[in-house]
Amino acid sequence: MTEAFDAVDVIIAKRDGKRLSADQIDWVVDAYTRGVVAEEQMAALAMAILLNGMDRAEIARWTGAMIASGERLDFSGLSRPTADKHSTGGVGDKITLPLAPLVAACGVAVPQLSGRGLGHTGGTLDKLESIPGWRASLSNAEMLAQLEEVGAVICAAGAGLAPADRKLYALRDVTGTVEAIPLIASSIMSKKIAEGTRALVLDVKVGAGAFMKDLDRARELARTMVELGTDAGVTTVALLTDMSTPLGLTAGNALEVQESLDVLAGGGPADVVELTLALAREMLAAAGKPDVDPTEPLRDGRAMDVWRRMIRAQGGDPDASLPTARESEDVLAPSDGVLARLDALAVGVAAWRLGAGRARKEDLVQAGAGVRLHAKPGDVVRAGQPLLTLYTDTPERFARARDALVEAVHVETSARQVAPPALVLDRIADR
Ligand code: URA
Repeated sequence: MTEAFDAVDVIIAKRDGKRLSADQIDWVVDAYTRGVVAEEQMAALAMAILLNGMDRAEIARWTGAMIASGERLDFSGLSRPTADKHSTGGVGDKITLPLAPLVAACGVAVPQLSGRGLGHTGGTLDKLESIPGWRASLSNAEMLAQLEEVGAVICAAGAGLAPADRKLYALRDVTGTVEAIPLIASSIMSKKIAEGTRALVLDVKVGAGAFMKDLDRARELARTMVELGTDAGVTTVALLTDMSTPLGLTAGNALEVQESLDVLAGGGPADVVELTLALAREMLAAAGKPDVDPTEPLRDGRAMDVWRRMIRAQGGDPDASLPTARESEDVLAPSDGVLARLDALAVGVAAWRLGAGRARKEDLVQAGAGVRLHAKPGDVVRAGQPLLTLYTDTPERFARARDALVEAVHVETSARQVAPPALVLDRIADR
């Protein structure tokens, strides 16, 4: 086959700050997926994109080319509208677990294709796999049937969805090119658009524990993704939410499932409930049901009923006890005062080192490992009280987890009031 372009010319064009043409983009994404464009050539192009950027038309075309590299799912035959949520990843972010059954209980189907954790951020599939018997892999037919019968499905994305992104994401991970906004936006949105949802709510995390450390860059990422979704006919809204401190009081797989069950039972930490309801309202509005109030189904047990059916449909036992770690140790408050800072990244790294996450894709995670918080920023603490409890099956991991936490805690000893950070920082919708 004669190739339409030469990869080196495409790299040089972007290196020199030029726009790539639609044909160049279609070709380079397709040729990379076919193995004609070499890994080192795509690495060079990804770096040129990181340094010189892409305009709206280029990003839209790049996203389209990634979608075209694989299959597209079609939920148009379902009897109810669909809405999905995507979080850019954080520490203690278990929101998908209560959110999917809650929105389903309100009459909107939720096809939630999720991932596993890598690095300090947890993965939804790892969390659910701490439920005995639960299975992450479903065929497209099983997924569709569950969506119709139960209304919510959380499962692994099949290999057929945006295979160009799978290859490119792995390459970016090892070439210092993850943080490029055009590449993050096209990576996330190609999978969401190919998945076939009609409405999408993005939870763009901002702060120490997130990809985007500052609000301006998070806003730019959110705006880029909202434009991509809108251009593809998906009603898309983004909330920018705080990730300077962990969400809720747990980070770790089974610990987070238990906290999600508390929320579904009508309790749970205030910030997890607040964000679950805020995202549910956005999903319902985006799916054409702005008048449905998600508060009641959370309180009266209807969301819990959908959860139980959703877990059972994927082989899990919703009544089985969740695994717990064999060993635990407390981290104590250094002085009397108000907890001013509890760093999300440090807690995420500690949970990861305790065995909740993996260092390589092949590693197994410990279901019971993780961190429990006993105080949040703004709370009064007493010297010597437990601030955190660390859990693991392998106690030799405690020392490195403690190392990660050395600078994580700041207790303000003056009488100054410390306000907890606001949770929802901004909302971005199509103008
Ligand atoms: N999540 C993705 O799927 N892709 C990215 O590039 C970043 C986060």
